Amino acid sequence: MDDWEDLKAVAAGAQARAHAPYSGFQVGAALECRDGTVVEGANVENASYGLTICAERSALAAAVTGGRREFRRIVIHTSATGPVAPCGACRQMLCEFAPDLEILSVYEGGEAHWVLSELLPHPFRAAALGRGAPSSES
Ligand code: THU
Repeated sequence: MDDWEDLKAVAAGAQARAHAPYSGFQVGAALECRDGTVVEGANVENASYGLTICAERSALAAAVTGGRREFRRIVIHTSATGPVAPCGACRQMLCEFAPDLEILSVYEGGEAHWVLSELLPHPFRAAALGRGAPSSES
């Protein structure tokens, strides 16, 4: 996928399948892998509110589970009236694999674009643990 249109369509489809009965705020994500595969995610809420997983982390977990660990872009799709940036937890999780990930936030009436390193300028990374970069197998 070279332009954003297909990614946006995937994210919109995922948004419609979100489980967000408590907040009423449905979010879809489309994560583009290095090999061109697109993995979708949606927020999945729970009656125990704090267990909620965001769309971005849902997509990331699915991609890693599917054997993909290199990512180029993510689209976040909402019906908000302004741009929705990934929450802090999602920024940290995405940074583990793609510190320079391109992020497009699509909302009602507009779009916003960032690079993850702008949104998380001082990430906590594996190097701080004295272990170097994590291997591709674990
Ligand atoms: N949410 C996401 O899925 N992604 C974001 O970037 C922002 C917030 C979800 C979590 C929760 O289900 C709902 O939106 C309201 O916070």
